[in-house]
Amino acid sequence: MASLPYPKEPRELPKIETAHRRIQSPIPHPDSLSLLKDLEHFEARSMQGQPPIIWHKAERFNVEDPYGNRWIDLSSGVLVANAGHGREEVRAAMEEELAQGLHHCYCFPHQARADLARKLIEITPDYLDKVFLLTTGSEATECAIKLARTHGVSKGGDKKKRIVTFNNAFHGRTLGAQLAGGIPSLKEWIHQPDPTFVQVPFPDGYANTQVAFEDFLGSLEGRDITADDVAGVMLETYQGATGSFAPVPFMEALRAWCDENEIVLILDEVQAGFGRCGKWFGFMHYGIEPDIICCGKGISSGMPLSAVIGRQSLMDQFGPGEMTSTHSGNPVCCRAALASVQLIESEGLVGNSECLGELLHGKLAELQQECSILGCTHGKGLIAGVRFVRPGTKEPNGEVAHAITQTMYERGVLTFSPVGPGGGTIKLNPPLCITQEALEEALGVFSEIVREKQKEIS
Ligand SMILES: Cc1ncc(COP(=O)(O)O)c(C=O)c1O
Repeated sequence: MASLPYPKEPRELPKIETAHRRIQSPIPHPDSLSLLKDLEHFEARSMQGQPPIIWHKAERFNVEDPYGNRWIDLSSGVLVANAGHGREEVRAAMEEELAQGLHHCYCFPHQARADLARKLIEITPDYLDKVFLLTTGSEATECAIKLARTHGVSKGGDKKKRIVTFNNAFHGRTLGAQLAGGIPSLKEWIHQPDPTFVQVPFPDGYANTQVAFEDFLGSLEGRDITADDVAGVMLETYQGATGSFAPVPFMEALRAWCDENEIVLILDEVQAGFGRCGKWFGFMHYGIEPDIICCGKGISSGMPLSAVIGRQSLMDQFGPGEMTSTHSGNPVCCRAALASVQLIESEGLVGNSECLGELLHGKLAELQQECSILGCTHGKGLIAGVRFVRPGTKEPNGEVAHAITQTMYERGVLTFSPVGPGGGTIKLNPPLCITQEALEEALGVFSEIVREKQKEIS
């Protein structure tokens, strides 16, 4: 569903000044209107849809506009700034590389790529022993699909090519990644019956209560698909659309089925990795071993870098020069990623995510008890998907989610626009360096607005 629009005319707002938030002008600010108009005029329409705030400065868990307004950021960009915005250590590492004149390096050997590859292998389980660096999450998921299909055909012949993914999944917006994804409104306009991809219901336990592995097998059988047809299964560790995880027994059974049938299990960690879920990688909550993981976003706290990390037998299927990219392991991005991973380590941000995640999910559970517009909350660590519904139903309420998002930024707390089915899910995912005090302040604002909406509706 396309994002709903925010007011384009400046709105006078009550002034706010706290340790972490400052609202002191109308929003959008009158002086920002020409920039907003230029973006609307010159860019593709698809780039519209976020709150009309000019990002000017960012530090740790705060974002500021040029007019003195300051927000507690619960967006992390779009789950990017795991170590925090504007970290000096990340900037210094990039500057050092830039000073060497190494703005790019293609596939020629260089130190930063070697250092990052080693570090990524160190922080992932031992059996994941090879890495391939790319630029975006979509490239990483498409690469994983290619690796799985190549493996499938080598084991089971031309027929073993299908990739099973899940309804409402998001794996990126390049064509292959989008075909793998399961967002109905996107598929309407790009989907030709492509036999490569097949989507089955995701066992989230809320919209879909059929969470047994037999239900997954039943969905495949219903389409005459057997294990012999399947090269790979790919899922987001948690569904980006809602924040929901699959049940552990489901994932254990899926792992066993993939093992028995030479099927590659791919976990898309583009959102879930690098401490977001209170563990280094979100899949660690399942206690299973994926064959390939796809990483991006929080890997570098901002610079465009992604990674496919997998078993050597899969990663080495192509010969020298056969799987490359112009910007693979860009030296500046590699330095940023290394510095960001080191910050996550040295500041204990995975532990902070786990610990503050308990506070976040505890407060949301209390709010859910009180407010029937809040259908359910999902997530682990510092990521929560809060689904707004029409009272007494599970039907998403995109209008309410949108109105809450708007009131939040008007009161100094920033999220990106609602996502998920019907645009009904607000995602709360601050940088992992947020303090308890700031998180409590932001959750206080969110709860107050949800209570006001609840009152207005009932
Ligand atoms: C789970 C997941 N996979 C893949 C992607 C695509 O990443 P990118 O936008 O960097 O191409 C995203 C982006 O939101 C994502 O959330």
